[in-house]
Amino acid sequence: MSDQLVWARAHTNIALVKYWGKADAKLIIPQNSSLSLTLDHFYTDTGVQFDSQLSADQLFIDDVLAPVDEKVANCLAVVRQLAGIKTHALIRSYNHVPNAAGLASSASAFAALATAACKAAGLTLSKAELSMVARRGSGSATRSIFGGFVEWHAGDSDTTSFAQPIEDPVQMDIKMITVVLNRHPKKISSRMGMQSSVNTSPYYAAWKQQAAKDLVNIKAAILQANFNMVGHIAETNAMRMHALTLSADPSFTYFNADSLEAMHIVKSLRENGTNCYFTMDAGPNVKIICQSKDEATIINALYRHFTEDKIVVCKPGPGVTIIKDPR
Ligand code: DP6
Repeated sequence: MSDQLVWARAHTNIALVKYWGKADAKLIIPQNSSLSLTLDHFYTDTGVQFDSQLSADQLFIDDVLAPVDEKVANCLAVVRQLAGIKTHALIRSYNHVPNAAGLASSASAFAALATAACKAAGLTLSKAELSMVARRGSGSATRSIFGGFVEWHAGDSDTTSFAQPIEDPVQMDIKMITVVLNRHPKKISSRMGMQSSVNTSPYYAAWKQQAAKDLVNIKAAILQANFNMVGHIAETNAMRMHALTLSADPSFTYFNADSLEAMHIVKSLRENGTNCYFTMDAGPNVKIICQSKDEATIINALYRHFTEDKIVVCKPGPGVTIIKDPR
């Protein structure tokens, strides 16, 4: 075991075919397979050291002592079990998100934590195995182990639910413009929201069937470098996911008025010949999928409604890596 902090850097990812619902809440086995794009702009650096002097795990986020929540505890428990140790850990985590944009995602956080913790515990795991450890912290983190387009195979057990790279480096010209519409923590977490959708939406079975089709089709579109097909599938899949929140009992939504405005801008740009599409996750921020040639047109259209500090342009990003102490 290392007597120094071992550091890992992981980038966040945005799902183009969403994960929305668990088949096993403890192991975080999803109801459906999903596919994402890892982004270059937003990342987390996390350092871990197992220290026999510690009587409890200690977590610092951006140098501030933070509570060790259930997700962190679960992820560390898996690492300790795999390594056959009981030692507590010191964890230091830094989120690199422009202007504290409220995009700090659990995806980059748990991919970095799993990777640093496994290495610090003396484990040598494949990336697929690391993705299983990251999954035990947060589902979307499974995919942030890899760069570019990534699939998370749903599987039906701990060892069959893992991520696999689909294309890295990404061949097609694809960018994601993030429109930051809320910096505050969401009221309904993705964990609660997806559980409620599984339990109460009468459309859940249809979602599962459709998501399976979307996955097959988007993989074909990636293989053919067909940007428009990728964008179209991503947009329709996202709206079908959000239909599960509207059809839950009680119903809820992650849209706010600005999200609707941003979606409207994308649709009218498209009607006027600009190839762009949107996707949204468990919060009001809208992500616009586009190509480099249209970036300026889209940003100009957004500037009519949103200020410059709300707009961040991302490219495909890399998978997780072990890094030197970044401080
Ligand atoms: C809408 O990975 O945050 O972003 O597994 O409960 O931690 P937990 O949920 P989380 O959910 C992500 C939901 C999503 C879609 C996606 O990333 O696939």
